[in-house]
Amino acid sequence: MPTPLPPPPGNAETDSDSWSRRTFLAASAVGSAVAVAGPSLLSAEPTAAAAEPVADAHGSRVTFAVNGERRTVTVDNRTSLLDLVREHFGLTGTKKGCDAGACGACTVLVDGHRVNGCLTLAVRLDGAEVITIEGLSRDELHPLQQAFIDQDAFQCGFCTPGQIMSGVGCIRERHTGSASEIREWMSGNICRCGCYVKIVKAVQQAAKGR
Ligand code: FES
Ligand code: FES
Repeated sequence: MPTPLPPPPGNAETDSDSWSRRTFLAASAVGSAVAVAGPSLLSAEPTAAAAEPVADAHGSRVTFAVNGERRTVTVDNRTSLLDLVREHFGLTGTKKGCDAGACGACTVLVDGHRVNGCLTLAVRLDGAEVITIEGLSRDELHPLQQAFIDQDAFQCGFCTPGQIMSGVGCIRERHTGSASEIREWMSGNICRCGCYVKIVKAVQQAAKGR
């Protein structure tokens, strides 16, 4: 029988319930997998210092900037950057598609480089600068956002934030010499609506105006 996972920190009542369930699940064939795949956010202290949680074996305290705003949080060590920005910071522009690194819907910039938020552990971000789709525009739309509108480069729009963040990275990396080069360097971003031709045109438009 696999060794049961220790209970997560939290209030005593929740721990008791959670621990009983975890113990039961651990005794079954799928118990360990279900326990590990559970909600990953531990805690954070966006406001009151008195309520500040303490980092322990399950959580770590990290400080980084999100869209120019400095944040200090204590997160479960398993928390992904995607879950942190969506579930804790309320930045839901970044989408969760596959949650497995296959679709690119969760693409954000970390220190100027595009990454999949679902594959990036939040605890590794100490000192980093994160830009999500919400932080891309200031007083006016980013040129690539405008280009997506001009080129009608989306239908349902679910993939669009990730496409735009990836496109920004693609332009910065200067992988825009041809349509085929753009397709190659944007190939990690899937569009189920099939807007690829117009997405490439949007990236070309923004790259020209850079
Ligand atoms: Fe991250 Fe699909 S949600 S790659
Ligand atoms: Fe619908 Fe891309 S616009 S998935």
